[in-house]
Amino acid sequence: MSDIKVLVLVGSLRAGSINRQLAELAVESAPEGVTLELFDRLGELPFYNEDIDNDQVVEPVVALREAAAAADAALVVTPEYNGSIPGVLKNAIDWLSRPYGNSALQGKPTAVIGAALGQYGGVWAHDETRKSFGIAGPRVVEDLKLSVQTTAFDGKHPRENAEVAANLQDIVGKLAAEVG
Ligand SMILES: Cc1cc2nc3c(=O)[nH]c(=O)nc-3n(C[C@H](O)[C@H](O)[C@H](O)COP(=O)(O)O)c2cc1C
Repeated sequence: MSDIKVLVLVGSLRAGSINRQLAELAVESAPEGVTLELFDRLGELPFYNEDIDNDQVVEPVVALREAAAAADAALVVTPEYNGSIPGVLKNAIDWLSRPYGNSALQGKPTAVIGAALGQYGGVWAHDETRKSFGIAGPRVVEDLKLSVQTTAFDGKHPRENAEVAANLQDIVGKLAAEVG
């Protein structure tokens, strides 16, 4: 049987992003038979514009849609910006939502997790990302949740937080189990 492939998207472009570190930990947590691939080019996508979403659409958009088409599931790891979804991630959702009704992630199980500085760990952004992706085409797995306050990491890589690492491993396993 071929590997289950999971596309990983991160809602922060920052080099030292804690959410990118969480995504790295998710990649490391993959059980046998599951491969997580981080698509690291969301910052190269132009703002969504229907006028440029045509046969000549720019290469980073093609690359995103091809990565999504090759995946069986998606894991979204994002902080919260001003109580909501970071623009870079919302823009990626908009690109992935088209062609309408035929998204490269159409019907594919998708989980949303992440970390933010606030006491609720970015839960507003995570709920809104679930709502938006749920409209865009993927099948959002609502009960796979992890919203961590960044202070829990105490400046260290999330892999050094045993509780978070165990939760993340559980989520990755359950997300892969949704494929089929
Ligand atoms: C523009 C901006 C808006 C932010 N808004 C929120 C917010 O609404 N809630 C929150 O918990 N943290 C907020 N933060 C703090 C982020 O959660 C924190 O910087 C987090 O570490 C960013 O994720 P990253 O480390 O993956 O880049 C904001 C940060 C920035 C730069």
